Amino acid sequence: MRVLKNLFDQNKKWAAAIKEERPDFFLNLSKQQNPEYLWIGCSDSRVPANQIVDVLPGEIFVHRNIANLVIHTDMNCLSVIQYAVDVLQVKHIIVCGHYGCGGIKAALDNKEHGLIDNWLLHIKDIYRCYQVKIDMLDTEEKRVNLLCELNVIRQVENVCHTTIVQNAWKNGQKLAVHGWIYSIEDGILHDMDVCVTNLNELSHTHRITQWQRYS
Ligand code: CO
Repeated sequence: MRVLKNLFDQNKKWAAAIKEERPDFFLNLSKQQNPEYLWIGCSDSRVPANQIVDVLPGEIFVHRNIANLVIHTDMNCLSVIQYAVDVLQVKHIIVCGHYGCGGIKAALDNKEHGLIDNWLLHIKDIYRCYQVKIDMLDTEEKRVNLLCELNVIRQVENVCHTTIVQNAWKNGQKLAVHGWIYSIEDGILHDMDVCVTNLNELSHTHRITQWQRYS
């Protein structure tokens, strides 16, 4: 092995430690996955889904991108949501942002960052909706953190507006969409109390009310 030997060494130790405690763990896991949760979080290396909620492999289905965005036409994210909801039948979708998010910070400045500026436009759109409220705050940290929270709320809405989630609710599937935010400074998760569990909680503009069968 020529490179990154340390990571392979650590992997062996990690697998051995789990096997020692639970000899059949990997064998059982290899047969199926049955996670109850879909986690949509930021790519930030400091916000790893499994570690934060202290669960083993197999318990959380994960999608991460910069600033935990759920874009209406992002086939990557939509495919993850569809597979999680339709096939894995997860019970909960958690959108988890974090304070001090670099993506949010970058969206609030007017500097050029390269290709990513196109991705960050989605955050700027949210900023523009709440600009008066955000600009009233006296420090950059407070402005960034408020936009981090507002972004989580918007992304929860975006998850709920997908045809995937609306169809699941229409068909009586039990599915809750949650908005959480994580504090890197102390490792603590905060529930933002934006749990959505059915079609009636969606705004009229985005709720599908007339269903027909396409075949
Ligand atoms: Co981030």
